[in-house]
Amino acid sequence: MTSTAPWPDPASRSAALYARAKAVLPGGISRLQTLVEPFPIYAGRGEGAEIVDVDGTRRLDMMNNFASLIHGHARAEVVEAAMRAAREGSCFAMPTEGEVALAELLCERVASVERVRFCNSGTEAVMLALKAARARTGRARIAKIEGAYHGMYDYAEVSLDSAPDNWGNAPNSVRFAAATPQAVLDDTVVFPHNDVATAERILREAGDSLAAILIDPAPGVFGMIPMTPEFVAMIQRVARDIGARIVIDEVIAFRLGYHGAQARFGLEPDYTTFAKIIGGGFPVGAVAGTAEAMAVFSHEDGKPLNPSSGTFTANPVTMSAGLATMELLTPEAYAGLEELGAHARAAAEAAFRAAGVAGQVTGIGGMFTLHLHDRAITDYRSAYPAGDEAARGKALHLALLRAGFIMSPRLSAFLSTAMDKGGIDRFADALESALRAQ
Ligand SMILES: Cc1ncc(COP(=O)(O)O)c(C=O)c1O
Repeated sequence: MTSTAPWPDPASRSAALYARAKAVLPGGISRLQTLVEPFPIYAGRGEGAEIVDVDGTRRLDMMNNFASLIHGHARAEVVEAAMRAAREGSCFAMPTEGEVALAELLCERVASVERVRFCNSGTEAVMLALKAARARTGRARIAKIEGAYHGMYDYAEVSLDSAPDNWGNAPNSVRFAAATPQAVLDDTVVFPHNDVATAERILREAGDSLAAILIDPAPGVFGMIPMTPEFVAMIQRVARDIGARIVIDEVIAFRLGYHGAQARFGLEPDYTTFAKIIGGGFPVGAVAGTAEAMAVFSHEDGKPLNPSSGTFTANPVTMSAGLATMELLTPEAYAGLEELGAHARAAAEAAFRAAGVAGQVTGIGGMFTLHLHDRAITDYRSAYPAGDEAARGKALHLALLRAGFIMSPRLSAFLSTAMDKGGIDRFADALESALRAQ
């Protein structure tokens, strides 16, 4: 059950911690996405579907650390697995059995995965996959979907926050971080989600300069709009024709299916990136793929074409927690998330209608996003907030926090197996009240 205190309260422990943090952390935070105005809420502890903050306020956590906690907080079996590993030594400059077991699980579940190389984050996984595709093809450029988030690798973050004043007619490659080299923009081709004709034209024009086509079948940033079957077929066809490798980013999308999002969408990638849920709540990443594609990581024929390393890579705590998490993620658990997601989308749609406010809910599986407009959404541009929608979205986010519900700042939710329909129904009631009050 949620319990809420007045917030933002300048006399709270969160306010005091933020004052201390501002003296030692840039902007007072370690991660931009944790920022909530006027100051972040500091977590105290997580219990299943809920977070209790440092002031004792309990909220339903629908964000689950941006989709990384598939079983909610501190699930007993996962905690036990991590503790067991930590007691026996948290990291070694030696391999351990855990990395073999977790890689075996991924190879068994996902058809295109025959080899796995672990790393420590989704950012690293995407970087390694793109470098591997370059090494395999001898080409430099990559293509990505406008607005899609794939972590902080320079190339992957191009056109992450393009806006009407710089995005051009067909997508331009727009700098995200200041002073990103022009060469990065030149080597990153941007195409629109689900626009088959435009995307096909752009990809074919880039042709044999492209090492990789990087995709997410339901990009989170603009509301997890699933790729259409026609778009999937186009990607597959064009990649084959031009000789580019398909990299599917399943850092979030792996929560869409026991055999991977790729099975659900009928995709046959060369490389897949994983992170988030496969680490059981600990830092993780992995690039995986066919034996042929992944051979670039191997030293067996001399120096690898794409060397990779990392001090904490495949550490036994992460491997152990990840394996426990994935073993709990059975086909039945996936089916439960699917049902909960459908229930949540219907309940949130009903809340918009009951409140008489224009809006819509997009998403797939156990994920959804609220939008404060009813224009058709197919891609980044059509989801882009117009007029006062961004400000109203921010106000709605704060109102939901005050009512005891945690969504991402973009009003997205990533459900966990620790949640139930009762919690979702309470959320929908709070959403309706918040919309009425806008
Ligand atoms: C689709 C996708 N790819 C990559 C990443 C980067 O993962 P990490 O935050 O572990 O670096 C994220 C993070 O949210 C993501 O959502």
